[in-house]
Amino acid sequence: MDKVKIALAKGRTADIAIEMLAQVGIVFRDYSKNSRKLVFKDTSGQVEMILVKSGDVPIYVEKGAADVGVVGKDVLLEEEADIFEVLNLKFGQCRMCVCGKKDYELSFNRKLIVASKYPNIAKNYFDGKGIHCEIIKLNGSVELAPIIGLADVIVDIVESGKTLKENHLEVLKDIYDISARLVVNKVSLKTKSEIIKSLISRLEELTLKGEFQ
Ligand code: PRP
Repeated sequence: MDKVKIALAKGRTADIAIEMLAQVGIVFRDYSKNSRKLVFKDTSGQVEMILVKSGDVPIYVEKGAADVGVVGKDVLLEEEADIFEVLNLKFGQCRMCVCGKKDYELSFNRKLIVASKYPNIAKNYFDGKGIHCEIIKLNGSVELAPIIGLADVIVDIVESGKTLKENHLEVLKDIYDISARLVVNKVSLKTKSEIIKSLISRLEELTLKGEFQ
């Protein structure tokens, strides 16, 4: 029987994905949230799980270092890897938005300065709208940029909206609905078709029950 290697985005995504996998019979006994271990085997010995930085999940899967991965749609949109996105796992729901100071008007007449942890998403969005922009790549605390005048607007994840509210910013445009996705290496889907398709259909059934959102 084929073995399958699954890459999970470290943190909350991995915690929930591991709970989902347990419900479909793939159990990692030695996993605990606070452990620093990065490689785990399931109780059947058929599935190996690796924990990687979320932004690295697509490349692990594209290169075949993992057959399957679980990662946010935000990362998939940003990284544009050559992999199959096969299932919306429905958890980790949030929105990718353009945000700025209240009532800020997006203008076509001058260059817009945009700060984001997601430079490709931001560039694609404004190019698509015909808005000339300069993207400033930041690694976090993006909400600061419009407040201190580093950028006109930001492109970022909004979940509860608390960060925006506490920094007196608001959503100017919704761009995408984001949630965790199951992705598969293109070759593995053919060579390990039986085990991977069975995994997809078991997880799909689970998402239809709506317990993980
Ligand atoms: C993310 C995101 C927003 C915030 C949105 O940041 O970039 O800043 O969460 O969540 P909310 O709508 O529930 O407030 P993260 O917590 O990853 O921290 P960072 O600023 O270091 O990137």
